[in-house]
Amino acid sequence: MANKAQAQRERLEALLEETRLYPPTQEFRKQANWNDAFVYERARKDVESFWAERAESLAWIKRWDKVLDWKPPAAKWFVGGKLNVTYNCVDRHAASTRRDKAAIIWEGEPGDSRVLTFGALEREVNRCANALKSLGVKKGDRVAVYMGMTPELPVTLLACAKIGAPHSVVFGGFSAESLRERINDAQAKVLVTADGAWRRGNVVLLKANADEALRGAPSVEKVIVLRRVGDKAPCAMQRPRDLWWHDLVDKAQDQCAPEAMDSEDVLYILYTSGTTGKPKGVVHTSAGYLLGTSVTHRAIFDVKESDVYWCTADIGWVTGHSYIVYGPLANGCTSLMYEGSLDYPDRGRFWQIVAKYGVNILYTAPTAIRTFMRWGTDWPNQHDLSSLRVLGTVGEPINPEAWMWYHKNIGRERCPIVDTWWQTETGMILISPLPGLTATKPGSATKPFPGIEAEVLDERGRPVGPGGGGYLVLTRPWPAMFRTIYGDPERYERQYWSRFPGKYFTGDGAKVDADGYFWLLGRVDDVMNVSGHRISTFEVESALVDHDAVAEAAVIGKTHEVKGQGIAAFVTLKEGVTASDKLKHELREHVARKIGALARPDDVFFTLELPKTRSAKIMRRLLRDIAEGQVLGDTTTLADPGVVAKLKTQYEEEGLVD
Ligand code: WTA
Repeated sequence: MANKAQAQRERLEALLEETRLYPPTQEFRKQANWNDAFVYERARKDVESFWAERAESLAWIKRWDKVLDWKPPAAKWFVGGKLNVTYNCVDRHAASTRRDKAAIIWEGEPGDSRVLTFGALEREVNRCANALKSLGVKKGDRVAVYMGMTPELPVTLLACAKIGAPHSVVFGGFSAESLRERINDAQAKVLVTADGAWRRGNVVLLKANADEALRGAPSVEKVIVLRRVGDKAPCAMQRPRDLWWHDLVDKAQDQCAPEAMDSEDVLYILYTSGTTGKPKGVVHTSAGYLLGTSVTHRAIFDVKESDVYWCTADIGWVTGHSYIVYGPLANGCTSLMYEGSLDYPDRGRFWQIVAKYGVNILYTAPTAIRTFMRWGTDWPNQHDLSSLRVLGTVGEPINPEAWMWYHKNIGRERCPIVDTWWQTETGMILISPLPGLTATKPGSATKPFPGIEAEVLDERGRPVGPGGGGYLVLTRPWPAMFRTIYGDPERYERQYWSRFPGKYFTGDGAKVDADGYFWLLGRVDDVMNVSGHRISTFEVESALVDHDAVAEAAVIGKTHEVKGQGIAAFVTLKEGVTASDKLKHELREHVARKIGALARPDDVFFTLELPKTRSAKIMRRLLRDIAEGQVLGDTTTLADPGVVAKLKTQYEEEGLVD
């Protein structure tokens, strides 16, 4: 961990010089949903009634008996309560004055768009729910979802939640093999997919990947296929397994009673990368998750009834689950979803969408902001961005320069920025400014949300004083926290709750400054953060050694100006295999095929040997020193210190150090 610590120290030093402070304007403060600072104190004193009061605004089938049952690390929230998440997100709004209000605005490629009102969404969701039922899906059965960003994706999620079938969404950029692994782990009964998806004018072959995945996934009995790209993709329907969405869903009945779900019934499973090669199925349950996402959404984005809110994430990730689908819709908010990419058809696409729909709240990722920075201000300047009121970021630490650029060029110095820290596991935002209350500092996620207690600890579990760096932990349960790892409760305990007993270990480094502000410093484990996507070094290593030419591989995250981190792979080849540029290319493509394009290494470096300790452990931290062009850290535990010195010289000679 030493050179990670060094990188973090450097970020820390840079941040310590950051003294700019942006308090909310009087005007913003006055109109803000949350503008009484007492809320922090109130939540600290009695966290259970703080959440219980807010839970009153959800629609319950049966009220809870007990707010929290906490036997670390097992948490149950709203024990004994019953509700239906979809009823809360859709039906109750459809039955109100919001019936004709836009629930989902969809901006598609190429040139498609569609608006679903709460009334229309209710009917679509019911049809989809009835279609799933007709395939034998019952409460508790898992439904895998592998789709692009079309309205049918949130419709499917909400249909699953309506009938109590946990969904497991697999991001459309993942490979057949990654899909198969996730389907098998969840033992999904049905898969919902599409013939293809649009990506920069090209087609992503979803159904072909799904077919390949299903060759080794016997739990799946039926497949629903949405026609999205038509004759642009080959789509072999396998009868009687495969059914077209338009045959099945469009013809289904549009009434469906919501299933009464226990507060703690599973809402969904979502796979994320951990510190081993095997992705973890993060399990979220119903009531606490719905409450946590909706309350934070309303408070942090200061959402108003007539707002158009746009979170640019893909629903394949947790940000899309919590802040495109569940949180916003529970609040009866208009949620915009976009199918395409940043630069298609041109680099002004985001700003054109903001202007077209009069977007009021924009929630995006630092990697996107850094890309926009590179493209220059002409693009946003060509569009009317005056509708924007609040700007958000998520996914990775934001550097103060990118924060300032966002503030100046997108927010025109009027819009508060909320830098929101959270994780797939936390389900909801946990550290963030409240835009009407918090004076923001560029690069800081500021303070834990009311009711959340976070600490920074040293190696031995002692709190680190102001200014010092350490491990970020959470010391109290929160409603939207994940409850377990699907099928592996032991891993849940071991990985998250035993490093500092009774405390949740986030895997992130952080520091708290003298004002009590949190500054996130990046992961302290073997998880990389590439363009805001979590990828484990072990996953990429396993994909590399799976190739016939490779003997051994060591993978590290290397600082990248736009992506946050890029992937660098050090590879030794088998006897008799010759290193070549062609092989490099082939290995990169092999990883993309095995995992998905998001895991494609930026650099592959061939070496005769990898630096190892005397007990044969690969020393990744030294590889990181090499890749970052740093002075080598401690090499005394190496079996052969000569290996690493030679490697460093070769690496520099190849010009791979930026
Ligand atoms: C990182 C995404 C700094 C962090 C919601 C965390 C952040 C991981 C921030 C979770 C932020 C997320 N500042 N770092 N505002 N938000 N991270 O599970 O390292 O895809 O542990 O959830 O992203 O990524 P995940």
